[in-house]
Amino acid sequence: MKASLIIDKDFKVAEVDKRIYGSFIEHLGRAVYGGIYEPGHPAADKNGFRLDVIKLIKELGVSIIRYPGGNFVSAYNWEDGVGPKENRPVRMELAWRDLETNEFGTNEFAEWSALADTEIMMAVNLGTRGADAARNLVEYCNHSGGTYYSDLRKSHGVEQPHNIKLWCLGNEMDGPWQMGAKTADDYALLARETAKMMKGVDPTIELIVCGGCVWDFPGLKNWDETVLDQTYDYVDYIAKHQYFNSCMEDDATFLAQTMRMDNLIKTTAALCRFVKGKFRKQKDIHISFDEWNAWYIDDEVEGDGINWKTAPARLENEFTLRDALLVGSILITLLKNSDTVKIACLAQLVNVIAPIMTQDGGDAWKQTIFYPFLHAAKYGRGTVMGTVVNSPVYDCENIGDVPYLDCTVVHNQEKDELVVFALNRSLDDEIIIDCNFRGFEGVTLIEHTELYSDDLKAVNTINADAVVPQSANSTDPAQIVLKKHSWNVIRLGVS
Ligand code: AHR
Repeated sequence: MKASLIIDKDFKVAEVDKRIYGSFIEHLGRAVYGGIYEPGHPAADKNGFRLDVIKLIKELGVSIIRYPGGNFVSAYNWEDGVGPKENRPVRMELAWRDLETNEFGTNEFAEWSALADTEIMMAVNLGTRGADAARNLVEYCNHSGGTYYSDLRKSHGVEQPHNIKLWCLGNEMDGPWQMGAKTADDYALLARETAKMMKGVDPTIELIVCGGCVWDFPGLKNWDETVLDQTYDYVDYIAKHQYFNSCMEDDATFLAQTMRMDNLIKTTAALCRFVKGKFRKQKDIHISFDEWNAWYIDDEVEGDGINWKTAPARLENEFTLRDALLVGSILITLLKNSDTVKIACLAQLVNVIAPIMTQDGGDAWKQTIFYPFLHAAKYGRGTVMGTVVNSPVYDCENIGDVPYLDCTVVHNQEKDELVVFALNRSLDDEIIIDCNFRGFEGVTLIEHTELYSDDLKAVNTINADAVVPQSANSTDPAQIVLKKHSWNVIRLGVS
């Protein structure tokens, strides 16, 4: 089938904020213990940090990592995870119903992040704790010294403050599954007062307030507006989370799910503007899409509450090519909305619904979804361009017309490159795209990389990589050919 793509040098959406290439590590399953931290592993350093995993995270190009949860944070006492390890308590962790040893905590994560070359996005507990614990944590992490909590940090052997700039005011506080879930009114007031106190301790930090994550739950429909009404002056971003259930059988419908994500982003951005207008504000609130991914969602995710285990395997999904195509489409959606989405986190990073898997005591390897993320993080730098895309469509229940061609274009001025990210949603046909580069001179093809297999269910395992990027056959930048159900990165030289 045929499609067309028009790019005009003067039509720009926004600069890409590198924080959209973020990810997430929660104290859940083997994400921390056995994932990034495994003392005694042959590849671990003196702190127990697995250097083989860090190498893969660097290759992936992750910019910022959200920590320590997730559902975990809503019943977490940050004080349990600092100070001498021998004094740290073992707790019954209620979100996932496992034992938390607290061997790894805030200072370990900060040290690990520096080694992994990633920034920190720290979440505070607004489930079972509140403003006081949150402001103390900011003081512990960010104040230079001479106060109770900054000196406590120093007494724990950490002389320099961590200077964490980005903080989440709790996690999914509308979710009935959340420890200490709140009504919109209760959360809005708590978030406002917590924000006031956290910024009182460090006015340079930025704050993310929890947006609603339960769409159809009665009584929670006005969550975002209620929360923004109360917190507009104190926060900088509103959080959105969305997972797409990989158990869905219909391939065409699964690959259309990002149309729902686009709608969620646009309606949230519209609501932010509405509240801005309502209160005649100057500043904008942007979106932090701080959990997204494909996920084989079934019911049995938590412990049984009888056999309490430490770091058991949980949510260790094996991702297919089809999941990688959806992840590519999610990244396109985030890029296309880069005027409103400034932060985004692939949830999660290691072992738990993750692009990187590890074996206890053994190897680390890349899942299929590793590749589209790597491509976007590496080549999706610069300015997202406005595009006109004409593509045949298919009809999808509850969504409507879905274009077979999903794509976006990023102009990297420093490298004189235009990069086209494109998904062909067709399960049967290739797409030939007629490209019109208005205002760009001397367009040349640098490389066309594709992620493809005949089998949409193909996976990568510790022993074999069935889904890896390959060089595609395109030679003409004006006529790009996309294989059926494939993810593509086309790098073009421009002057
Ligand atoms: O990423 C797994 C879980 O999904 C997170 O803990 C929670 O925030 C979300 O519901």
